[in-house]
Amino acid sequence: MGEAVKLPMRRGFGVTDRIDAWWKGPTAMAIYLGVMIAYSTWRGFMEADFWIFSEFGRSAGVQTMAIENQHSHVLSPLFSPLILPGGEGLGGPIPEFLWWMSPAMFILIFPAGFRGTCYYYRKAYYRAFMAQPTACAVSKPWNEYKGETKLLVVQNLHRYFMYAALAYLPILSYDVLLSTQFHDSANGTDAIGFSVGTLVLALNVILLSGYALGCHAFRHLVGGGTSDWTSSGIARLKYKLWSFSTYLNVHHKDWALFSLFWVMFADFYIYACTMGWWTDAVLWGGL
Ligand code: FES
Repeated sequence: MGEAVKLPMRRGFGVTDRIDAWWKGPTAMAIYLGVMIAYSTWRGFMEADFWIFSEFGRSAGVQTMAIENQHSHVLSPLFSPLILPGGEGLGGPIPEFLWWMSPAMFILIFPAGFRGTCYYYRKAYYRAFMAQPTACAVSKPWNEYKGETKLLVVQNLHRYFMYAALAYLPILSYDVLLSTQFHDSANGTDAIGFSVGTLVLALNVILLSGYALGCHAFRHLVGGGTSDWTSSGIARLKYKLWSFSTYLNVHHKDWALFSLFWVMFADFYIYACTMGWWTDAVLWGGL
């Protein structure tokens, strides 16, 4: 084996011979991810009974999780499936000492874990937040790369978060369906239709599907461990699924970034409508 060749590199944080604006990418990513994390954290606490948010949250009688437009239910993806601690239905079995938690807190751990351990996001936030590495051929503040050891072995949970993330796709699709069901309880009338909110939720499902089904772990799940693509119907189906996942995987970064933005936008859309800033216009059907 030949000897490893060390390229000459100037030393010192951010020192480089590069003359391009190498810092733009990591800086933009840090801002983008920082805004998304701050927004989702703010919203995650919003429906909780914390005094600081009481003027916004359920404790003040204002619900900002879902629009009830002609009694169609347009639920924010940050709060779906809706678990109301202490309430009826899904929240019923929640122990009383957890009733202070917001509905989002019960469920965001899974999407957050999925994104936080995603191979693409790891690359992005290691660079953006920890300068590890700073950029190609740019000196970094820390010593050598030690790999994902110690606490970072938690990243190996990605495939398990992926299973959980897949379960969200039918749940969020069901929310799209719910947003097309209109009811007039006074007259007992039912109708179907769709609003801007329906389209917002539907696009959210499309983007999240593109992101989750192009996941490296999903690609391995459907096509890994075999070289037989033709001998049976199952083998051919696996090949088709693997090909489809590969097709999505090529642009995994784009799916990751656009789907993240759209989840937050979908939530903000619903928040803005519940606050009366925007109106969820019914585009077709309804009552
Ligand atoms: S690798 Fe990105 S979601 Fe799995």
